[in-house]
Amino acid sequence: MCGIVGVVSNKDVSHKLYEGLKNLEYRGYDSVGMCFLHNKSFLQKKGVGKLAEVQKKVNFLRFKGNIGIAHCRWSTHGGVTEANAHPHSDCSNRISVVHNGIIENYSKLKDELVKKGHEFTSQTDTEVIAHLIEDNLKGYSIEKAIQLALKKLEGSYALGILHADSPSKLFAARNESPLILGVGNNENFIASDVPSILGYTNKVVYLDDKEIAVLMKGSFKVFDLDGRQLRKKINVINWSREAAEKGGFKHFMLKEIYEQPRAIADTLNGRAANNHVVFDKEFGLSENYLRKIKKILILACGTSWHAALVGEFMIEELARIPTEVQYASEFRYRHALLDKDTLVIAISQSGETADTIAALREAKKQGVKTLSICNVMGSSITRISDGVIYTRAGPEIGVASTKAFTTQLSVLYLLTILLSKLRKTLNEGQVKSMIECIRKIPMQLPAVLHEDDEILRCAELYHKRTNSLYLGRGVNFPIALEGALKLKEVSYIHAEGYPAAEMKHGPIALIDKNMPVVFIAPHDIYTYSKILGNIEEVKSRGGIVIAIATEGDKEIPKKADHTIFIPKTLYTLSSILAAIPLQLLAYHIADKLGRDVDRPRNLAKSVVVE
Ligand code: G6P
Repeated sequence: MCGIVGVVSNKDVSHKLYEGLKNLEYRGYDSVGMCFLHNKSFLQKKGVGKLAEVQKKVNFLRFKGNIGIAHCRWSTHGGVTEANAHPHSDCSNRISVVHNGIIENYSKLKDELVKKGHEFTSQTDTEVIAHLIEDNLKGYSIEKAIQLALKKLEGSYALGILHADSPSKLFAARNESPLILGVGNNENFIASDVPSILGYTNKVVYLDDKEIAVLMKGSFKVFDLDGRQLRKKINVINWSREAAEKGGFKHFMLKEIYEQPRAIADTLNGRAANNHVVFDKEFGLSENYLRKIKKILILACGTSWHAALVGEFMIEELARIPTEVQYASEFRYRHALLDKDTLVIAISQSGETADTIAALREAKKQGVKTLSICNVMGSSITRISDGVIYTRAGPEIGVASTKAFTTQLSVLYLLTILLSKLRKTLNEGQVKSMIECIRKIPMQLPAVLHEDDEILRCAELYHKRTNSLYLGRGVNFPIALEGALKLKEVSYIHAEGYPAAEMKHGPIALIDKNMPVVFIAPHDIYTYSKILGNIEEVKSRGGIVIAIATEGDKEIPKKADHTIFIPKTLYTLSSILAAIPLQLLAYHIADKLGRDVDRPRNLAKSVVVE
């Protein structure tokens, strides 16, 4: 996956391309490149490494040109080399292309082009696009040549294209990879996401699959692949630029952890009051339909998959609807049988995860209704599904998901209340008190964040340990999984999440004085006493216990080495509060180890390849 930004303006564009790329580095950071169009010829520079490193060598900011495209790469085809960095050109160096996605039939196309005499300089799938356009240019306009070339491509693409003989035009296209247009004042943009251009405009057009855009400094037009002009809506985005910046925190991840009271309050805003839950108009599913569904299947990847497991627990426990969770990547190849009365829910922060999109499409083929829970407006998943509930976390830049996760849990909780109410599994009084409890959560979160000193102490003591276990039960078992995932992602320490009772079936063999074990043990009527027993088992084998407990708990501090308190709430909602100390613990350990917290090695924010 990669990031793309392009600008056509009445001024030099190098600063805007540079700033845009800086905001897109979370999408890829193994190499970067830019191409400027000036006096009908290209100035193209690229290099291996992060933007700041390449900038030191080539100084992109010195280049002139009122039109340009830029790219940050996360390699899929071809190694991490300067030759494979984007942009890529045709033989005559009159066409320049940046690309995000994968061209599945590129080797067949490449063979055909080579036979016709085209010379390739990289191992990428992208370069075929430049040559294919060149090949189709004979006798046709550039617009027509792009259309003809795109018709031959199989796979996914978001493209920014320059043609040296069309010096006032920036071309763009997409299929199954994100790309937006930004409408500015005397300048227009293309970008992989909204935050990367928010500093310049908040007016955005979402390109759909198989659409081509032609942007000039004062206008833009969008066409289908047959050249028919399409009417596109301009959307006004209300995220501020500051919302996408670090705001004084050392890392985006830390800022995003601390933003959770606001993110959850925004997510609840206008949706839950007294004994009513109401979603926005995009929700799109009728009460009548929701009363009749017989099963729910939730599809997701990564952290969103952990949110799905919490959702499964909430929905089954309270709304009494059989619910199943599957990894999107597994579901799509399982030939699963879906009953038409099954509601399929896709959860995705980005709305662009390739496996989740494919799984959702697979489900839709079987004629079921689909709902997405997503943080990014207008992203692919939201446009495929019948209904959408947006989490209102705002842009999440840190690769490790934090505020998106807890807002997903908040939405799942609201959905559970709505379903429970419609299906009468909870009475009005219960619904009212559940709504009161979630509305309190944003006010309770600062108390959890205040536990940071103790969490930092744990990080100082244990950041050099190489393994750890996370144990929880019921609704907090997925929180154990999420805590372990956070630690792995940002600190590169091996961590495993387990249901606490399963410890006896294996993980207990690992426990010794070097093993920190994190227990998620808020007070509940079902399993609390059993978890106390598990803590004893770890202590008697010399393990180190860090416990998340409910405030006022007198037993756990007697047994654990460290106790981090969360306020009292309903059992299901303890999952939201308990997630936060685990995010902070992972953050501080990674920071102590000097890791690149916001851009951990080998990971990407949205995995738009399979
Ligand atoms: C990547 C990210 C994770 C995220 C997962 C699913 O692996 O690094 O943080 O949970 O993708 O992404 P999604 O956008 O679909 O929630």
